[in-house]
Amino acid sequence: MGLTACDKTNVKAVWSKVASHVEDYGAETLERMFIVYPQTKTYFPHFDLHHGSAQIRAHGKKVLSAIGEAVTHIDDLASALNKLSDLHAQTLRVDPVNFKLLIHCFLVVLAVHCPTVLTAEVHVSVDKFLLAVANVLTSKYR
Ligand code: HEM
Repeated sequence: MGLTACDKTNVKAVWSKVASHVEDYGAETLERMFIVYPQTKTYFPHFDLHHGSAQIRAHGKKVLSAIGEAVTHIDDLASALNKLSDLHAQTLRVDPVNFKLLIHCFLVVLAVHCPTVLTAEVHVSVDKFLLAVANVLTSKYR
């Protein structure tokens, strides 16, 4: 399911609202994921997972900044995410089901903080885009 020109426009519009809040929204996304889907915590045994943890904030910023890079390179996600794809598939070996959980939590964060931009149409575009990102990050398992 490829991204249409309209999807790309929608994703870029959303990102213009997110870009200046990557640390806050990223941390909230991760916190929600750890609370709502506690099994995801197993990948972070070395993290302080308490509310407001500096490690969660720093990691949330990294994750959303990487998604921001993907938005910038929306026409070439495979190259833009190549290194992260190696990391998640070969080193971290994160079970692909977890990507859907992270995506869901991020969409909730968007709905909470940017309700006016997240029309149903934009929701579809963002969901498609995030699934495309997840597909790249889980494409190198063997
Ligand atoms: C590390 C992005 C999904 C677990 C990272 C890093 C980034 C990133 C940018 C840091 C890489 C570095 O330091 O060089 C993403 C993106 C995701 C995603 C964009 C989805 C769209 C997930 C999921 C899990 C996960 C679903 C597990 C539930 C990890 C772990 C690390 C990591 C354990 C290493 C953390 C550390 O020790 O610092 N990810 N990630 N990631 N990711 Fe992901």
